[in-house]
Amino acid sequence: MNVLRSVAEIRAAVADAKAAGEEVGLVPTMGALHEGHLSLIRAARAESGLVIVSLFVNPTQFGAHEDLDAYPRDQERDARLAREAGADILFAPPVSEVYPDGFATTIHVTGVTDVLCGAVRGPGHFDGVATVVAKLFGMVAPDSAYFGQKDAQQVVVVRRLVRDLNMPVRVVACPIVREPDGLAMSSRNAYLDEASRRRATALNRALDTADALVRSGERRAAPVIAAARGVLAAAGLDPEYIELRDAEDLSAREDVGDRALLAISARVGAARLIDNRILEGDHRCDASC
Ligand code: PAF
Repeated sequence: MNVLRSVAEIRAAVADAKAAGEEVGLVPTMGALHEGHLSLIRAARAESGLVIVSLFVNPTQFGAHEDLDAYPRDQERDARLAREAGADILFAPPVSEVYPDGFATTIHVTGVTDVLCGAVRGPGHFDGVATVVAKLFGMVAPDSAYFGQKDAQQVVVVRRLVRDLNMPVRVVACPIVREPDGLAMSSRNAYLDEASRRRATALNRALDTADALVRSGERRAAPVIAAARGVLAAAGLDPEYIELRDAEDLSAREDVGDRALLAISARVGAARLIDNRILEGDHRCDASC
């Protein structure tokens, strides 16, 4: 696996691959790779001739009081894990390559960025994400790009960006990868001390409880949210948000209908954690019904 740092180098590598008729898959990351990222790399590997993992801790998506400086960084480890998962290239540009002097463009996706994490973190977060993803797509020109469904709102924002700007990139959302006790994998889990780590499992349990209620026939948002909130409260967690939203456009939903997104954010000890579940209102009865 090669480690490339400049736009010129990555463009040359991609041009070679495309000339050879290969599909190019990009997995954008901020490093601190975990099984969630590795599942994206494996998905890209299964579908692409050239697999590029980008590693860039994007300063513009962190708010003034967020964890940019503390964000876990270990490029050697990330490079090894990316290679083992099947990456061909680690694209790790310095900040000056992504945002050279005089950089003056910001992409703002309206609407879907106003709610959930956009409301809690402020509009700057998704402006930073949209801008850097557009930059990465411009620099790498991938055929497909792989994102984790754990960041469900990010997936919606990126899909809207790609559609609105006619970017020729297929956006692939991969399932959430969880620890054996259900905690969704996240680079920010590294901030959890032992007690917080135990309490953090309440997010997934809250989603399980909501899911079970829907499977038992409840469709209204209020009781589904109340049940999930109860699980969080029992673990001493007061969520920043817990909301039922349309999975495609993030509009507020009063009921699950066929399908809706239940999204949670909560501060647990030193970490701000998010998790979500697609609730299926029209699921077929399984053996447990
Ligand atoms: O999901 C992430 O790690 C980041 O938001 C992304 C997509 C790599 C952009 O910096």
